[in-house]
Amino acid sequence: MRFLQVVVGALSLVGPTFAQSSTVDGYVSTESPIAKAGLLANIGPSGSKSSGAKAGIVIASPSATSPNYLFTWVRDSSLVFKVVIDQFTSGADTSLRGLIDFFVTAEANLQQVTNPSGSLTTGGLGEPKFNIDGSAFTGAWGRPQRDGPALRSTSMIAYANWLLDNNNSTFVTNTLWPTIKLDLDYISSNWNQSTFDLWEEVNSSSFFTTAVQHRALREGSALATRIGQTSVVSGYDTQANNLLCFLQSYWNPTGGYITANTGGGRSGRDANTVLTSIHTFDPAAGCDAITFQPCSDKALANLKVYVDSFRSIYGINSGIASNAAVAVGRYPEDSYFGGNPWYLATVAVAEQLYDALAVWASQGSLTVTDTSLPFFKGFLSSVTSGTYASTTSTYTTLTAAIKNFADGFIAVHAKYTPSNGGLSEQYDRNSGTPTSAVDLTWSYAAALTAFTARSNATSTKSWGASGLTVPATCSSGGSGGSGGSGPSVQVTFNVQATTFLGENIYITGSVDALQNWNTGTALKLDPANYPTWSITLTLPASTNVQYKYIRKVDGSSSVTWESDPNNSINTPASGSTTINDSWR
Ligand SMILES: *[C@@H]1O[C@H](CO)[C@@H](O)[C@H](O)[C@H]1NC(C)=O
Ligand SMILES: *[C@@H]1O[C@H](CO)[C@@H](O)[C@H](O)[C@H]1NC(C)=O
Ligand SMILES: *[C@@H]1O[C@H](CO)[C@@H](O)[C@H](O)[C@H]1NC(C)=O
Ligand SMILES: *[C@@H]1O[C@H](CO)[C@@H](O)[C@H](O)[C@H]1NC(C)=O
Ligand SMILES: *[C@@H]1O[C@H](CO)[C@@H](O)[C@H](O)[C@H]1NC(C)=O
Ligand SMILES: *[C@@H]1O[C@H](CO)[C@@H](O)[C@H](O)[C@H]1NC(C)=O
Ligand SMILES: *[C@@H]1O[C@H](CO)[C@@H](O)[C@H](O)[C@H]1NC(C)=O
Repeated sequence: MRFLQVVVGALSLVGPTFAQSSTVDGYVSTESPIAKAGLLANIGPSGSKSSGAKAGIVIASPSATSPNYLFTWVRDSSLVFKVVIDQFTSGADTSLRGLIDFFVTAEANLQQVTNPSGSLTTGGLGEPKFNIDGSAFTGAWGRPQRDGPALRSTSMIAYANWLLDNNNSTFVTNTLWPTIKLDLDYISSNWNQSTFDLWEEVNSSSFFTTAVQHRALREGSALATRIGQTSVVSGYDTQANNLLCFLQSYWNPTGGYITANTGGGRSGRDANTVLTSIHTFDPAAGCDAITFQPCSDKALANLKVYVDSFRSIYGINSGIASNAAVAVGRYPEDSYFGGNPWYLATVAVAEQLYDALAVWASQGSLTVTDTSLPFFKGFLSSVTSGTYASTTSTYTTLTAAIKNFADGFIAVHAKYTPSNGGLSEQYDRNSGTPTSAVDLTWSYAAALTAFTARSNATSTKSWGASGLTVPATCSSGGSGGSGGSGPSVQVTFNVQATTFLGENIYITGSVDALQNWNTGTALKLDPANYPTWSITLTLPASTNVQYKYIRKVDGSSSVTWESDPNNSINTPASGSTTINDSWR
């Protein structure tokens, strides 16, 4: 304690004082139960503010007019249930299981509802919102929004992994996996199509969407392996690599920030990017920059540019030091409800910084690069690029100031939260008064994840971000290989073939995704349902594809081809299909 006070004294020369940490402690402890109760009130069938919502349906807000948010969004619901599932699986609240099972059923039902984006097999999974009785919303809207299936599968995968750890593979294989697989197949087939962004305004490609799709396919592939559904693994891995490659293109090296959308005609500075960092945080990946981890140089440089873009435009930020926390919103050009700070954006900045601090603490050092130097100089103007061990005064100074900066965003949140603790969507840029939808479920979820990160960010589960490499050339994935473009479909090949021990069935054929007739790199089928061998591949849509099965014996380089002619299929325009063959 005394030591800290000395540090505080030294730091007051370069930045804000440390008065707020105890205030923030108090706010977190009073607001946490209010946020939890606010979140649960908005979930059917028995939430106190969600009457009329079916079991497991999350309403976005009870506000029915100006704005009318009495709908269920796949994105919001999935982010909300990720919080519920994490609280359940961590043991923080073991009473939530029934609600989680309601969510699983509700979302599985929504997947089947034909809507303006399509039917289950023709793009309906990209529909962003539904009525709270589970029926389709048929009004005009920004659709499709392709982050929904990714966030939903990420939430369900977290539950699936807990169930597997607890010996309940039956429920995972029979109930969760079919739902998860539909979402992952949708991502695999459609990630390279344009999408509306998470704010439902810009139709292009969007950093948040690309990043959460990447995460979902990585952990989906790992789950598939864990439960023996190996036929999908190579297809998901291929598209995950394509997504990781595409993800790099959002970085703007000149501006030193992440451009949120490829279209839209704005600066690209956007809470989209900070939300991405926290929702794809993987403590095992350290400060990895290719997945834009919270402590990566790119994500920190971006955080500063994003935060600074609000300093001069909101009246409530005037007079605040240039390195202190301020109110932040979705993006500086925002004009919705007059363009205001958002509660969920404000706590997201804090959460990214808490995640970063946790990783530095666990690795015992932090690294300043030329890219992140502007961020760090805000806290210690003399700092230079280099790695600082936790035993150095530079490390101590920087991490103390960054913790204080992070707490500053919680203090801003606290300042503009009314005394009953209710969290709306926005607070007014000049008066700080809450505005737009009241009791926004996502605002409550965002407060809870930030508070959890503040107390123990390292409890976040890993999803496989560590040790990845970016492919040398980016592929659109339409042909599963290089250079293709356009829509793709999922094709499952089943072939009946009896084999002897050590002999396996492979497939090769006329497109990149089938290895262009190469027997050396032909794709192995899964014998889980022997004598049926299976594999699911992403193939170009509306294309004639020729293929053959081959036999290879372990340890031998010779192959046995099926007899002529080549097999031939015309792939559908969208969705998925299954081919049933017998070895010839
Ligand atoms: C799961 O089953 C294994 C083998 O029967 C047992 O050792 C383990 O304790 C079980 N775990 C749980 C969480 O029930
Ligand atoms: C597995 O989990 C499901 C979902 O919570 C539950 O309904 C089922 O009873 C569980 N099965 C076992 C054997 O525990
Ligand atoms: C499709 O992927 C290619 C290769 O990464 C990329 O250049 C293109 O912008 C992507 N298009 C969409 C709509 O995602
Ligand atoms: C979104 O953009 C794509 C590609 O430019 C276009 O084909 C599609 O019609 C657009 N959707 C809407 C609703 O404007
Ligand atoms: C943080 O989370 C980890 C993993 O869940 C747990 O082992 C540890 O006890 C937690 N620490 C604190 C201080 O809560
Ligand atoms: C099968 O396709 C390959 C590659 O295009 C071709 O060389 C071969 O002649 C075809 N086989 C038959 C019987 O048409
Ligand atoms: C292939 O078999 C599956 C499972 O038995 C079946 O659902 C599907 O309709 C079959 N497809 C064709 C094209 O016969």
